[in-house]
Amino acid sequence: MRSLACLLYLLASTATAAELSPVQQQGLERLVLQDCGSCHGMTLKGGLGPDIRAQTLVDWESDALRMVILDGVAGTPMPPWRPLLSDDEVDWIVNYLKKGGTQ
Ligand code: HEC
Repeated sequence: MRSLACLLYLLASTATAAELSPVQQQGLERLVLQDCGSCHGMTLKGGLGPDIRAQTLVDWESDALRMVILDGVAGTPMPPWRPLLSDDEVDWIVNYLKKGGTQ
C-alpha cells in the first residue's frame, strides 16, 4: 500500500491535461493489474470481482464503466476510486480495459 500511495502521489502531482505521460500510463497499468487485479484477478478474468477483460465488457458503455470505477458499486466490495484517481486517469483505465490492455 505504501508504494501505491507513492505512485498515486506521483500521478496526482504530475497529472495535467488529458494527455498522460508514458510514466503515468505505466503507473496506471500497474495499478490496474495489481490493485484492480487483487480482486478481479491478475489477468482480470475474475476473482472476488467479475471478469473485466475486453471481451466481457463489450456491452458496457464507456460512461457506465467510468461511473462504476469512480463511484464503486454500493453494497459490494467494489470501492469508489474517485478519491484516488482523476477523471483523466479513469478515462485512461476505461480505454485500457476496453482495448484489452497492451495486448
Ligand atoms: C476490493 C475488491 C475490488 C477492487 C480493488 C476493485 N474491484 Fe471492481 N468490482 C469488485 C466487485 C466485487 C465487483 C462486482 C460488483 C457487483 O456485484 O455489481 C466489481 C465490479 C467492477 C466492474 C463492473 C463489472 C461488472 O461486470 O459488474 C468494473 C468495470 C470494475 N469492477 C473495475 C474495477 C477497476 C478498474 C478497479 C481498479 C481501479 C477495480 N474494479 C477494483 C471488486 C473490486
